[in-house]
Amino acid sequence: MTTDADTVAMMVRQMRVESSGVVSLRLERQDGGAVDRWTPGAHLDLHLNRGTIRQYSLCGDPDDKTGYRVAILHEVTGRGGSRHVHETLRPGDSLSVSAPRNNFELLPSPRYVFIAGGIGITPILAMIGEAERMGADWELHYGGRARTSMAFLDELSPYGDRVHVVTEETDGILDLGGILGTAREGTLVYACGPEGLLGAVEGFAGSWPDGAIRLERFKAKEIPADTLAGDRPVRVICERSGISATVAPDRTILETLEESGVDVPNSCREGICGTCETRVLAGTPDHRDSLLSSSEQESGTTIMICVSRARSDELVLDL
Ligand code: FES
Repeated sequence: MTTDADTVAMMVRQMRVESSGVVSLRLERQDGGAVDRWTPGAHLDLHLNRGTIRQYSLCGDPDDKTGYRVAILHEVTGRGGSRHVHETLRPGDSLSVSAPRNNFELLPSPRYVFIAGGIGITPILAMIGEAERMGADWELHYGGRARTSMAFLDELSPYGDRVHVVTEETDGILDLGGILGTAREGTLVYACGPEGLLGAVEGFAGSWPDGAIRLERFKAKEIPADTLAGDRPVRVICERSGISATVAPDRTILETLEESGVDVPNSCREGICGTCETRVLAGTPDHRDSLLSSSEQESGTTIMICVSRARSDELVLDL
């Protein structure tokens, strides 16, 4: 896990209802100091109740040094993090918060297409601010169940017809064929939202150049049962510490290295946050994360050791 040394004590200064089911938190340092700099697409690890750590995208102003803003959907059937925020956490409460980390960086481009589904608007909101600052051309396609459930519509309204709001209640679903059917030159696509939406976006990625479509997932991609059934032991050698271990088929590299005394920073343990990303010095990773792009996976230079394994019998890691 990330340790207390990696976090800062913060206070919930304000909670605001942004839509039905979404509340935003304004977090300020308890010591009154300035918060770390962040870039659009970055997230924080919030250390919630009983060791629960959850990642939430920053959706405030990156130039605001006095605090952070994150927004959280109440997932009644989720794993409990959002329930804790909505039902227990209140202004004045304190919690440990990691430094911002960005796995969904907004790369420079003259033109952007942003696609957000539901709470996926959070990283996109900060990206829109940055696109405006850069003078880039952009458009947003924002889908949700109903306008009452869609956060930040008030903040988006000044952007006029750059913002296309589509509600299932009245309009159906986002027309991804119309939005992505033909690749556009000099355009980057950033999409964030539920797995169904991102899977559909990936389905339209074929005509776009590699790297032009960038996704952020809130939930890990499912690993097919037949993939898991075919897992073999993997020998892992940690080059710097000199420790080596064999990873059994039913254990992760991260679990095995922890048991062997190797300290690796980690957080989500499901391949979505990037905290455990480790450099590969030799061997061929079998990537199972929901984070690296296909070209990054093909390069084989890093691996998320909380979920990924190896195609080779042995992996040498920079640990
Ligand atoms: S701990 Fe989050 S990707 Fe591995």
